[in-house]
Amino acid sequence: MNSPEFIILCELLDHDPDFVSGTALARKLGMSRVGIWMHMEKLRAQGFEFEALRNHGYRIRRPPAELNPLLVQAYLKPRGQPLDLLWLPETDSTNAEAERQLAAARPTPFVVLARQQSLGRGRFGRVWHSPGHGNLYASFVFRPRLEPGRMSTFTLWMGASLCDLVADFCRIQPGLKWPNDLYFGGCKFGGMLTEARIDADQIRDLVFGLGLNVNHPPDSLPSSLSGRATSLAACTGQPVDLNRLTAAIVGRVFTAYEQFVDGKHRDTFADLWNRFDILRGNAVTLIHGQQRVTGIAGGIDDEGCLLIRGENGRPRRFSAGEVTLERASP
Ligand code: BTN
Repeated sequence: MNSPEFIILCELLDHDPDFVSGTALARKLGMSRVGIWMHMEKLRAQGFEFEALRNHGYRIRRPPAELNPLLVQAYLKPRGQPLDLLWLPETDSTNAEAERQLAAARPTPFVVLARQQSLGRGRFGRVWHSPGHGNLYASFVFRPRLEPGRMSTFTLWMGASLCDLVADFCRIQPGLKWPNDLYFGGCKFGGMLTEARIDADQIRDLVFGLGLNVNHPPDSLPSSLSGRATSLAACTGQPVDLNRLTAAIVGRVFTAYEQFVDGKHRDTFADLWNRFDILRGNAVTLIHGQQRVTGIAGGIDDEGCLLIRGENGRPRRFSAGEVTLERASP
C-alpha cells in the first residue's frame, strides 16, 4: 500500500514544474485539504521544501539532499514494477543486513540502502569507510539459480554498466580498475563487493554490494585514504543529486542483472569493459597470496581473468588478486 506522502510526491513530480492544487491532491487521496497539509508537514520534516501559493497549490522547491527512500521510490515509479527497498538510517553493513534478511526468508529480489555504515566491508576483509551524509551504500539481493562458473564476469559487467551510467549522469569519464574499483583521475570513488551462497552446483543467493562516495568531502576521510579516494562531487565540481543518482543506479543494476542472467550482456560486455579499463596497456603489479607479478596489463579474457604480459611477452591470466597501477603510459 502506497503511503499518502508517496502519492503526494508522485503527483508533484508528475506535474513539476507546475503547481498541483490542494483540492486535486485532496480528491486524489480522498481526504480533506487539512489532511493534505498534515502530510505535507510530514514531508517537510523529512527535508522537503515546498512552494505553497494560494489559488495555485503546491510544488517542490527543493528535495532533500540526504538519501530519502520515498523520493528514490518515486523516481523509480516510471519503471513500472515496484521494488522491495529496505532503507535504514544506519546499519553495520548493508551486505550483512542483506544476509540477515535472507536468513529471515525475505523474498528476492530486494535492495538494502543505508545512509551510514558502522562496519562497511570491502574486499580482503578491509573496512569500507562509510560516513553518514551524502554517500551511497547499497546491497542488491538476487537469486539467480545459475552455475557458479557463470558468475566469473558478474562484478565486471556490473562495474562496466555502472561506469556507463556514471559517465552519463555526471558527465565525467570514470574508469574501472580490475576487478571491482571505480576510479576517476587516479583516485577511487567506488567499490563493489559481490558475495554469494552456493548450493551444490547453483548460486542460491547473490548479494551485490556497492559503495559510492558521492557528496561526502573526500578530505574528511581518514589520512590513510588521502590522495587515493575521491567523491563524485569532487570529480564534477558540484554536489550530485543523491536521490536521482540512487534511483538511476537501482534501475541500472536491475536491468544489468537481467541482461546478465539472460546472457544478453555478452554482445556488449567486452566493448563496455574496454571503454573504461584504466589498466590496459599500462605497467601493473598484481599481488595474489605469496605471488607478485609485474608486467603490462592486456585487458581481460572471456572469463573475466586479467591478462598480464611479462618480459617474455607471453600473457598470463589471473582470476583474483590486488592490482596496482605502476605508471600510466603517456
Ligand atoms: C571494495 O572496494 O573493497 C569493495 C567495497 C564495497 C563497499 C560496499 S558499501 C555497501 C556494501 N556493504 C558493505 O559492507 N560493503 C559494500
